[in-house]
Amino acid sequence: MDLNTTLVPMIDLSRKEDGSSDNAAFARDVAEGLSRKQKHLSSRYFYDGKGSQLFQQIMDMPEYYLTRAEFEVLNDNKTAMAEHFAKDGFFHMIDLGAGDALKTKILLRELTRQQSSFDYVPVDISGDAMQQLNDSLQAEMPDVNVQAVVGEYFKALEWLQENKSERKVVLFLGSNIGNFEINEAIDFLTTIRSYLSPGDKLFMGIDLRKDPDVILKAYDDAAGITAEFNLNLLSRINRELGADFSLENFRHYAMYNPLEGVMRSFLISLKEQEVAIRDTGRTFHFDAWEAIHTENSHKYSLDQISELGKTCGFEIETVFYDNRKQFADVLFSLR
Ligand code: AVJ
Repeated sequence: MDLNTTLVPMIDLSRKEDGSSDNAAFARDVAEGLSRKQKHLSSRYFYDGKGSQLFQQIMDMPEYYLTRAEFEVLNDNKTAMAEHFAKDGFFHMIDLGAGDALKTKILLRELTRQQSSFDYVPVDISGDAMQQLNDSLQAEMPDVNVQAVVGEYFKALEWLQENKSERKVVLFLGSNIGNFEINEAIDFLTTIRSYLSPGDKLFMGIDLRKDPDVILKAYDDAAGITAEFNLNLLSRINRELGADFSLENFRHYAMYNPLEGVMRSFLISLKEQEVAIRDTGRTFHFDAWEAIHTENSHKYSLDQISELGKTCGFEIETVFYDNRKQFADVLFSLR
């Protein structure tokens, strides 16, 4: 028994040695991305306070079917899921990118109902989110043993290997895997696999291929919330890196490629312009109609999911679907 868990409710791996947060890395990534011939900003920077709030709004929009579909998958199959997780005895339930864990709470309640033996380890880059989750779990499910970890996925996995050494079920819900390019997804899952042992499992939420119009509308909603979410990246750069982007000089543009199964989002420069970003020490030129690529959201077929798993050392144990087969939560065991 680790006495620290009662004294330290949260492990924070996100602080640097000197206690500062990592503004320099953000500046470096922005400068690098905007220096490319095809300009790029990473979708991982969407989620500042405002961005996280906008993403919550996205999950509530009528067009954003992903969240409702995954809720349905979890609600309709929670009994079987919990049984699969718990059948070999005690486990650590590791929730990568837990956020507010609204979806995971469905499983937590069911595991509690089944009197399963487990502890819950939510991992997220947002310290605020983990503090709130910790508090809400304390209030709603005081019997669940919680150890929140604040930090990047890989740092957290390393910490887990040292500190949470029993059987693991790793959750990666919400189709977050969709933001990775195929080679990045392979690297990510292979790394996760390297931290796992026989008996461990991976439980991953994946958005499936479907009517292109349905997909496109989810990322180009009528109320313009996704546009605001995308443009907020420029506000964040203004605020955190001292830049002078004029938001009215850019627009959100989203397109779906059904051959690749990839939804791509861009910010389009509406005119020729220069933007100074203080913390990069540089000014960036934009041509009229030049695009900044900001996000990919990959949609998978079941064959591709199976193939991806195999490549990374996993095999499918069970696939759970919503009733329209829009979304899948896939349980992998190790090959
Ligand atoms: C959080 C990565 C699952 O790609 O669907 C929502 C993010 N971007 N609308 C997704 C997002 C635009 C979302 N994920």
